[in-house]
Order: sequence, then structure tokens, then C-alpha cells
Amino acid sequence: MKTTIYKIEDLNQNEVQEHIHKVLNHQGLVVFPTETVYGIGANAIDSKSVNQIFLAKGRPSDNPLIVHISDPKDLNKYVSNVSMFAKKLIDQFWPGPLTLVFKKKDLIPIEVTGGLDTVGVRMPNHEIALKVIDIAKVPICAPSANLSGKPSSTEFRHVKEDFFEKVDIMIDGGKTKIGIESTVLDVSNDIPAILRPGFVTKEMIEEVLQMDILDFSETKIKDTPKSPGMKYKHYAPKGHVTIIKGSINQFESYLNQLTSKEKVGVIAPTEYLKNIKLHHLFDLGPIDNFDLIGSNIFSALRQMDLDQVETIYIPYLSTKKQGQAIMNRLIKAANHEIIELE
Ligand code: TXA
Ligand code: MG
Repeated sequence: MKTTIYKIEDLNQNEVQEHIHKVLNHQGLVVFPTETVYGIGANAIDSKSVNQIFLAKGRPSDNPLIVHISDPKDLNKYVSNVSMFAKKLIDQFWPGPLTLVFKKKDLIPIEVTGGLDTVGVRMPNHEIALKVIDIAKVPICAPSANLSGKPSSTEFRHVKEDFFEKVDIMIDGGKTKIGIESTVLDVSNDIPAILRPGFVTKEMIEEVLQMDILDFSETKIKDTPKSPGMKYKHYAPKGHVTIIKGSINQFESYLNQLTSKEKVGVIAPTEYLKNIKLHHLFDLGPIDNFDLIGSNIFSALRQMDLDQVETIYIPYLSTKKQGQAIMNRLIKAANHEIIELE
């Protein structure tokens, strides 16, 4: 398949807009940036289009997709029962990295929701994403643009690695700002519940709603997952990832005494790397800069693959605020393998 690559400035041309419109209304796929990660988009109200996404990603068909809209007013076409809670959160956080799960209306095909009677919707905060939805004139379902199970894509070269010649159009938006997928919040029941932590934290939501909410995001694999996405292996590079819990000193001595013959890499904040005597180091940024660390984790995991690193060590970081979302992704990349040095 031929893949056409566009840049942001191309989107003002009529022919380019016509091309995007045509692709998204004829069962095609468009990869585009959002403020969180790149998405691979299709027409959300057409089953055949939706199926193309599952094929391209190799994604299990029971893992539901998020529907992206460009105007909150469109929400009522696709979902029922928008509660007062949901309205407050939309006012505060849309456009932005918060996906809300509602009871779906019939217009949304079950292919989008993996058979569930609920659907996740968000309005992304990104010029290109909003423009693509407007041009398509249909809602766009878009999972993260990575092959199923692999780290998400936060740079244009990541999506090229995974989808070049597998989609009709790719739009280059450079590096995505947040770098971690949206917070997923179920607002279809009486008490809102977090299903996936993200940049919008539990505290930020509770502050707006002035109430305590539930957090199901740490549900272990063995329990019944509250969101189908929880039960699959995620974000994993080819190398074997291990998380290390301990002080910076303990981390340094553990890594410096390794005698493994395998190619070893380390992904960590700056402070952890100063005295590490290994070659493949990825500096995530200063330990207190969650924004920078969050924006770098998927690039780091993908870089280890490019360097053909076989064993990857990552320190256990704070789970406060955005740290919860960061550790959620890293622990999944490690398939829950954690060594405790404390
Ligand atoms: O930031 C993002 O959300 C990115 C960008 C492209 O918008 N998209 C994204 O999509 O991360 P995806 O498909 O990789 O992750 C969607 C997550 C999955 O864990 C899925 O199980 C959950 O959202 N989800 C979607 N609809 C749901 C529903 N109706 N009920 C429960 N979980 C749902
Ligand atoms: Mg994903």
C-alpha cells in the first residue's frame, strides 16, 4: 500500500483536505499526532473502517477504541446519560488528555467498543488531530499508533517504523507533548472510576468534582479487568525489562556489579545515571520533572530496541501525581517484574 506523508502546513491545501476526507470516508486509515501520543484513525461510525485498525495493529478485537471528536456538542449524538459530573469534567479538561466512558448510542458500532455497551470519547488538544476530525466530518476512532503490545508512538519516526506502507496517510507533527496516553475515566456509573491513569490525575478530577472517586487502574491481571485493555501485555520492547526498587545508591551498586554477558541498557532520570558504568543509557530528565520524564518514556523504550539491548533496567519512581501514569506504563512494559533492593 502507498502511504502519503503530510506536514501540518499541507493541511490548508484543498487537494490534501479532499484526500484525507476521501480516505476516512472510504475505509482508509490516517495516522495523526495528538497531544498525548500518535493515533491511527478510522471512521468510527463504519464497522468496516474500524476493522481496518484491528488488522493494521494486530489488536485483539475485544479491546475497545476511543472515539475522538472535535466539538463537545457532538457528544450527544454518540452517547446517552451525560451526567453532571461528566459535564463539569468536559468544561474543565476538554480539549485535553481525558477520555470519558459513557453508555453508547446505537450509532457507535460494537466493533469500536469490543462488544461493550459503553464507549470512550475524548476531544484531543492538538491542532492537527482536530483538523483531521473536522475534515473527515465523521468521528474518528483512534488507538495509539503502535503495533499491538509495542510501546506507543511519540515521534514521527516511531509511526513510520510501525505503519509505513500499511496506512493511506501519515501526518508528521513532530514529537508529541505529553507522551503518555489519556486518562480513561468511567462516568457511566454513579461514582466515576479511573480505568487508566494519565496526565489528568485522580487529585485533579476530585478537585473539580469535589468528591472522592474510584481508582481501578491498578487492578492486577489475575482479577477481572475493569477495562479490556488492562489484561493485555503492553508497551513492551524486545529487550527484557526489569524495574528496580531502591535508593539511587542501591541502584548504582546493583547495576555496576552485573556480570551478565547480555547487552544491558538503563532508562532512568539523570540523577540515577551519574555513576553507572554501562553503555546504553537513556536519560529521562531530572527526577522532579514528571512532564519531561513522561514525554520521554516511549522514546526510551523504542531506543533500546534500536540499540538491540537485551536487558533493560529502570528504577521505580514516585507514583505521586503524574508519576502514577508513568509507573503504570513502565511496570506494564516490565510485565510486573520488580526487584526490591530495600
Ligand atoms: O491518548 C490516548 O488516549 C490515545 C490517543 C491516540 O488519543 N489513544 C489511546 O488508545 O491510547 P488505545 O486504544 O491505545 O487505548 C484505549 C484504552 C484501552 O486501555 C481500552 O481498553 C480503554 O481505553 N477503553 C476504551 N473504551 C473503553 C470502554 N468503553 N470501557 C473501558 N475501557 C475502554
Ligand atoms: Mg495503546
